[in-house]
Amino acid sequence: MRCITGHVQAILVGSGWHPSLFRLEMEILCKVRPYRFGTRVVLVNSNYNFMNSLKKSATLDECLSPYGLSSDFSDIESIMEGWIMEQDLGYEFGKSIAVRWIRIDGGIGKLNGKKLANHCGRILKQKGWHINLEFPDVELVFVLDGISEHIFWGIRQISKHPREGWIKRAATERPFFKPISLDPRLARVALNLVIEEPDGIICDPMCGTGGVILEGSILNQNMVGIDLDKQMVSGTNENLNWLNKFHKNLPNQQIIHGNAINCAEILKQNNIQISGLVFDPPYGKNAWKSDELRELFSRVLTNIRNAPGISLGSRLVSFLPIKPGINGKDESIINDVNLGDYSTYELKLIFKKTGWSILSLHEIPVHGSLARILICAEAI
Ligand SMILES: C[S@@+](CC[C@H](N)C(=O)[O-])C[C@H]1O[C@@H](n2cnc3c(N)ncnc32)[C@H](O)[C@@H]1O
Repeated sequence: MRCITGHVQAILVGSGWHPSLFRLEMEILCKVRPYRFGTRVVLVNSNYNFMNSLKKSATLDECLSPYGLSSDFSDIESIMEGWIMEQDLGYEFGKSIAVRWIRIDGGIGKLNGKKLANHCGRILKQKGWHINLEFPDVELVFVLDGISEHIFWGIRQISKHPREGWIKRAATERPFFKPISLDPRLARVALNLVIEEPDGIICDPMCGTGGVILEGSILNQNMVGIDLDKQMVSGTNENLNWLNKFHKNLPNQQIIHGNAINCAEILKQNNIQISGLVFDPPYGKNAWKSDELRELFSRVLTNIRNAPGISLGSRLVSFLPIKPGINGKDESIINDVNLGDYSTYELKLIFKKTGWSILSLHEIPVHGSLARILICAEAI
């Protein structure tokens, strides 16, 4: 890893679950705009040492550093040999290494990953490494990326997948579950997009069954939840008690019965300063058709802009229903688009009028006839 007073460079590979959210999450966690290759690979060059932040990611599969890359495959074996000879790769007498390879989008037709891995294994052996495929001290990983038509390689820096445990944490496993519960992965991405300082408090003013609050707890983040429905307040507390059985020393979270349109006043009364918000208003296929929901959404946005602690640049993430198949997951929504019952232009106007500016919009497919939009915005 090139690391001169905190300066770090790495190749990051997304899991493929949601490529455009992966790139945004990497930009925020690494505090720099990465250079992108295709949709699922980025190169980060940052003055901020982002390695610990990446361990919280919802979308990352691989972090490789030191790394190499090439789009010229004509003599890749010599390129690899030169790279391995130049790097020390943390070698010490007796240390073991494994060479792995992964393919994105079918890999690169001309390149045989196994053959290349064997070739590298032979060079590493000559350099004194033991090969241990099961429990190596170090892993050299190749990524054969059929999307950007590049090969990337480097030393794996995060061996335990940050996304490990999603299945166990599925909302259906909790004692209080409703179909409205937010997917833990989405909750985590949303939190990573708004958390700026780990000691701030993040508010979900429509917390429902506690999807965002629980994921925040796992991130060791102080959270406050509000919901209009008393059953949701007690249900979120029940889910938090359940979570505490599996995780030690989670922060104590406060869940309050109240109306999100009075969020600022509720927080003031309880002496709570927040630094960001994640929320998921009531939705359904036709939810946004009703003026009632538009009105509620605007009133909540206006109110939370005045919440204690929210100042210029504070971030929020919210979700709304849209018609499916508008943009897909690979790219964020940039142009003005009709989202079904409203357009991105209208959405931007609502945010602007209420004291927020939209930073990024992403389609989240749900099923054949429903999709949602993730809106990431900052206070203006
Ligand atoms: C889509 S659900 C939120 C789901 C939640 N993210 C979860 O993981 O369970 C919307 C929630 O907003 C709540 N709600 C609706 N109107 C509200 C209001 N005016 N103030 C506060 N909460 C409200 C509903 O009771 C419901 O629990």
